[in-house]
Amino acid sequence: MCEKRKEVVNVMLKMSDILDEKDPRLHMVSKEVTFPMTKEDLKNIDLMEEYLVNSQIEEMAEKYNLRPGMGLSAVQIGVLKRYIVIVNETEEGFDSYIVINPKIVSNSEEMIYVESGEGCLSVNRECEGIVPRYARVTIEGYDTEGNQIRVRAREEVAIAFQHEIDHLNGILFTDKIDPKNPFKGADQYRPI
Ligand code: NI
Repeated sequence: MCEKRKEVVNVMLKMSDILDEKDPRLHMVSKEVTFPMTKEDLKNIDLMEEYLVNSQIEEMAEKYNLRPGMGLSAVQIGVLKRYIVIVNETEEGFDSYIVINPKIVSNSEEMIYVESGEGCLSVNRECEGIVPRYARVTIEGYDTEGNQIRVRAREEVAIAFQHEIDHLNGILFTDKIDPKNPFKGADQYRPI
């Protein structure tokens, strides 16, 4: 019984499974997924979702030493394939978005930014500065079975989609901040 329990813990994603910003793979472009998806990729998606949910539950985050996050892209666990998971806590519980080969097909003109600074599970340091993002985006992609899906996202979730899709293109949020002038353009965008 003890052994079985250990096994369950071992298959959970840990902070150490998530690539650090210094890893060159985070600056590589991920490849399109073909269907049917492999068992391994489906498992990865489950693990990514589980990590994100647990990381947003204080007791779990503390118990397993998980830094809280709302999104992960496959490349962050070393898999250079185009899929992302976003978990957003709402009053009703956790909303999960799992999108394979995601693409932004339309966006608002309005731009926003995270006032307290964007975060990333691969960036383990404070990184101040403005990352302008669309306030609303429509994403097209596929579910895990290969059915085409369309998601409309706004505010925080819209930012998460743009952040994760950037990962698939080898871009970190820190790449988008001008180190010489990290708050450039603050007056042009709406802080959230
Ligand atoms: Ni990130």
